[in-house]
Amino acid sequence: MKLSTLAIGATALPAAQAWGGFGHITVAYIASNFVSKDTASFFQGLLRNDTQEYLAGVATWADSARYSKFYHFSGIFHFIDAKDSPPSYCGIDLERDCKEDGCVVSAIQNYTTRLLDPTLPVYEHVVASKFLIHFIGDIHQPLHTEDVARGGNGIHVKFNGVELNLHHVWDTSIAEKLVGHGRRRLGYAEAKNWADTLTTEINAGKFNTSRDAWLEAVDLADPTSTALKWATEGNAYVCTTVLPEGPEAIVGQELGGDYYEKAAPVIELQVAKAGYRLAAWLDLIVARISSQSAKMGDL
Ligand SMILES: *[C@@H]1O[C@H](CO)[C@@H](O)[C@H](O)[C@H]1NC(C)=O
Ligand SMILES: *[C@@H]1O[C@H](CO)[C@@H](O)[C@H](O)[C@H]1NC(C)=O
Ligand SMILES: *[C@@H]1O[C@H](CO)[C@@H](O)[C@H](O)[C@H]1NC(C)=O
Repeated sequence: MKLSTLAIGATALPAAQAWGGFGHITVAYIASNFVSKDTASFFQGLLRNDTQEYLAGVATWADSARYSKFYHFSGIFHFIDAKDSPPSYCGIDLERDCKEDGCVVSAIQNYTTRLLDPTLPVYEHVVASKFLIHFIGDIHQPLHTEDVARGGNGIHVKFNGVELNLHHVWDTSIAEKLVGHGRRRLGYAEAKNWADTLTTEINAGKFNTSRDAWLEAVDLADPTSTALKWATEGNAYVCTTVLPEGPEAIVGQELGGDYYEKAAPVIELQVAKAGYRLAAWLDLIVARISSQSAKMGDL
């Protein structure tokens, strides 16, 4: 994706982005379905957008920002390169896998802390919230927690006859086939529909018995271990579903058939989880900020 996207803004959705842009927007819409009223008005105020799109509209900003000079340093915050060995061994070791300048786990820690820091200017709170909304999406994409062939970018495969790399298949193609029956460049309306479908599954459908467990690891007092647990859970799918027979065996394979049938439920689950967890995380942040300002006599 090129710099020009930054100028065009969030409504232009290039075909290849992390989670395909579409995944990120869906995650944000799910989160806006679950946040508390206080959280919604807090972020509508901070992001100066009082529509229902206040989270969705900024969900892909980080993918444009990483190609700008000013935020170039944030490129490494979109992933953590687990140096494991799929399919025989998956797992993340923060010391081993998080680069010195950061990774998606440290970024979630950093931008959570910055959002909670009342001494930072409002502008930095805006930036921190846009990064957080994006990175909580990224950390749920299994190939954003894997080192092999740069998160699968170097693995050439086919998807419904089209030659693509494996990373792109997991970012974009599986969701496009699932939601758009293969139509590309799905937009905000399709993301909103998918988010509403997954919201119903979380509330009263196939996810309603697991949703409490999704929040078990969530601890605002320890963003690093919370994010590490999320990353570890996504990374485990690299061994079971992304590379079940290892990186060599998948090269050149057609993934639009049986492989897709096993991958699509994982994508669905991870997108639903990411949205539900993002809502919970933002709720905790806003509750903390309210109690901080109450103590300071601001309320
Ligand atoms: C809110 O965000 C949406 C999506 O980006 C955008 O279309 C709309 O213009 C924004 N509204 C305001 C008031 O900024
Ligand atoms: C935390 O975020 C700030 C603002 O984007 C950035 O300058 C800094 O490098 C980040 N620190 C870490 C450890 O990621
Ligand atoms: C799950 O959905 C059923 C009805 O479909 C409802 O009775 C039950 O309370 C729900 N459980 C949770 C944890 O929301």
